[in-house]
Amino acid sequence: MGLDAKCFFYASISDCGGPAQRQDCGTLPHPPELKSLSRRNTMKTSIAIYPGSFDPVTNGHLDLIERGEKMFDLLIVAVLQNAEKKPLFSVKERVEMLREVTKQWPDVEVDVFGGLLVDYARKRGAGVILRGIRAVSDYEYELQMALMNRKLEGRLETVFMLPGLTYSYLSSKLVREIAQLGAPLTGLVPPIVEERLKAKIS
Ligand code: PNS
Repeated sequence: MGLDAKCFFYASISDCGGPAQRQDCGTLPHPPELKSLSRRNTMKTSIAIYPGSFDPVTNGHLDLIERGEKMFDLLIVAVLQNAEKKPLFSVKERVEMLREVTKQWPDVEVDVFGGLLVDYARKRGAGVILRGIRAVSDYEYELQMALMNRKLEGRLETVFMLPGLTYSYLSSKLVREIAQLGAPLTGLVPPIVEERLKAKIS
């Protein structure tokens, strides 16, 4: 990003940062449509939450985590503790696998949450929800969730990212299904997840 673009970003979406950034950005006006986003009404955009079931984490999730890690200061991968669903892996197992496969990224944290996502985001001081959209079919569900979350907490933005094309057909549900039917999992999940799936199913 060039300096002008960066300044525009800091001045409008964020809060023009610390004194060093303010010096650079000082003369740039806020565009009219963003004037209402006053400093007090915004949350930091540098902390993002990537929520999901992750049952189990796939290479598609990892692709998105890698992209998100580059974009945000802290990316919290948050596993939903959902008493209603019958998962294949326990929350503890899912968190263990996620921690193992994200350990190379110091700015990625794996956590568990229950209840409303917006409450968890407020608790963590996050201003962004990160979600992946693989295909048009994902869009309707994601749109509903994003708009509901916006209704519940107007300061929270949902950011959609596209995983690599290679993973556009990949889902945890399909991985569980083909694992249970004995299909090879190479390239679909990290090796540690493949081992855990085999052990779980045998
Ligand atoms: O991996 P998934 O199952 O698609 O993730 C769905 C998830 C966890 C993002 C969503 O179910 C969620 O945020 N649940 C928390 C409860 C909540 O806040 N519900 C209202 C969201 S509109």
